[in-house]
Amino acid sequence: MNTETIKKFPDGFYWGAATASYQVEGGIENTDWAKAAREGRVPTCGRACDHYHRYEADFDIAKSLGHNAHRFSVEWARIEPEEGQFNEEAIAHYRNVLQALRARGITPFITLWHFTLPLWFSEHGGFERKDAPEIFARYCAYVVSKLGDLCEHFATINEPNVYATHGYLYGAWPPFRRLSIFGKKIGKEDGTSERARAHAAFSNIFRYFSVTKALALGHNRAYQEIKKNAPNVQIGIVKHVHYFYANSNPLNKLRARLMTYMQTERFMNRIKDHLDEIGLNFYRSTMYGDSKNYEYSDMGWKLVPEDIYGALMILKQYRKPIIISEAGVADHKDAFRALYIQKQVRAVHRALEEGIDVRGHMYWSLLDNYEWALGFEKRFGLVEINYETLERKIRPSAYVYKKICETNTV
Ligand code: BGC
Repeated sequence: MNTETIKKFPDGFYWGAATASYQVEGGIENTDWAKAAREGRVPTCGRACDHYHRYEADFDIAKSLGHNAHRFSVEWARIEPEEGQFNEEAIAHYRNVLQALRARGITPFITLWHFTLPLWFSEHGGFERKDAPEIFARYCAYVVSKLGDLCEHFATINEPNVYATHGYLYGAWPPFRRLSIFGKKIGKEDGTSERARAHAAFSNIFRYFSVTKALALGHNRAYQEIKKNAPNVQIGIVKHVHYFYANSNPLNKLRARLMTYMQTERFMNRIKDHLDEIGLNFYRSTMYGDSKNYEYSDMGWKLVPEDIYGALMILKQYRKPIIISEAGVADHKDAFRALYIQKQVRAVHRALEEGIDVRGHMYWSLLDNYEWALGFEKRFGLVEINYETLERKIRPSAYVYKKICETNTV
């Protein structure tokens, strides 16, 4: 890249990577996912990366890679293993995690819930329970009351629509509800919906809508409860935005608009008055009426990192600071990750130039990890994990990202 095109980011921009508790920590057995694994419906997570015990060494790596921020999630089932009973040891652990980050000059961003539910909650209806929003808000407020002195940024929910879609329409994730329309089942084409032995019915569409509504109510309620005692913490949502667009065909344009509304705006409109910041998770885009050829990642997702710009433009309407809370690529050969990151970061800069208030970028993920119904095969990490020995090996692309982080330029 020649020097004329170097783009500078604002001072204090957050650069780092993200993880999620269940995907990296290991040893979490009291969740809906662990139970589903025991039943053979999803892969076993087991000790994962053993990040629960190795977080200090992992943060040393993050530090050595120039990261000044880190997003991670706390595990609800560790913190509230029985309904209404909170575990002080789990809190002490996450306080140590926060202190380890701060000691390295890394600003923490906590996600309060990233897909896995404590068994006591999932076994009694999960987010279909009438009192789910209150239960969720109580949990969130408790965690912030215990960790809020060490962390300023909390997101309540990771990807509400992705959770509800996979669990209530595709049936590939707990609680394994799958939509069928006139006997035709919709679902994932990668076989995960079949292995999950999902319950298929048309009525699951109503569950999907009621769960997404409960998630929005849960977020709003959590926001209110948290703010009562911790008015200064920044509360956000982590929203997956699939960027839909179209060629000039009006029908295609309409399709793109509808999909944007259904997958992003419908939820955001419900919570927009209870938000201090927004986390954007970006992985995918769809152009209706597209005839171009693309390259694809190991997930089978087309490689268009620059489309993050379009996703940012959709979130612009909510007029809040935005953190890219996840964006990354599964690339076991590390063949295109470096270029992917560079293109993506340049697209983020383009959005900044146009006045969108982007404050940070967290690559997904710091480590290879448990990719939900797909197990450990997909490799998103800046750092490769050998699951036999748990050895960590920094991938070459991580050094390309390091240069971006350290120079605050691309
Ligand atoms: C999720 C992560 C997941 C990643 C890659 C996001 O939807 O938040 O948990 O591993 O995408 O699929």
